[in-house]
Amino acid sequence: MNSIIVVHSLTGNTYSVAKKMKEKLMDNGHTVTIERIEAEGNADKTEGNPNKLRLTSLPDISSYDLVILGGPVRAFSMSPVVAAYLTSIKSLQGKKIILVVTQFFPFPWLGGNRAIAQMKSICKSKGGSVIGTGIVNWNRRNRENKIVELAESLSKVV
Ligand SMILES: Cc1cc2nc3c(=O)[nH]c(=O)nc-3n(C[C@H](O)[C@H](O)[C@H](O)COP(=O)(O)O)c2cc1C
Repeated sequence: MNSIIVVHSLTGNTYSVAKKMKEKLMDNGHTVTIERIEAEGNADKTEGNPNKLRLTSLPDISSYDLVILGGPVRAFSMSPVVAAYLTSIKSLQGKKIILVVTQFFPFPWLGGNRAIAQMKSICKSKGGSVIGTGIVNWNRRNRENKIVELAESLSKVV
């Protein structure tokens, strides 16, 4: 399957998870590319208003069947940069989508679940089919093993 991993990552955590996912998907025979969503200036701050963000890199997903979208949790919500990116996309009709977030706190209910629910809701409203989700809790023992497990399990839902 022709796949793209689209990731917003300020300090590199989500990007490192994206790279692990790419590895596992490729092991399973998929063609995978990674592209970053980037925004201008201070736009990564939680105070950012998604409507006022200026994105400087908007990966084009139109030619891909599978889209893996990743980003950090910001203030118990999805990243404003991911929100702005999703808003910019006209349609996700016919796309399979996997959503992944990373968060500092050790429990998904401290932002991860909400961020995923928000991202899922926008994807569905644009016709996308969310086939898998994952949350990585950065401040957790065993994190590296969890990332490998998550990448393995998500690469199998495709
Ligand atoms: C402004 C701001 C708000 C954040 N809010 C949360 C939060 O609500 N819950 C949480 O667990 N982590 C929160 N974090 C931590 C990030 O989600 C976490 O460090 C993430 O892994 C960073 O990913 P990145 O390196 O890909 O940018 C916040 C970080 C920043 C800078």
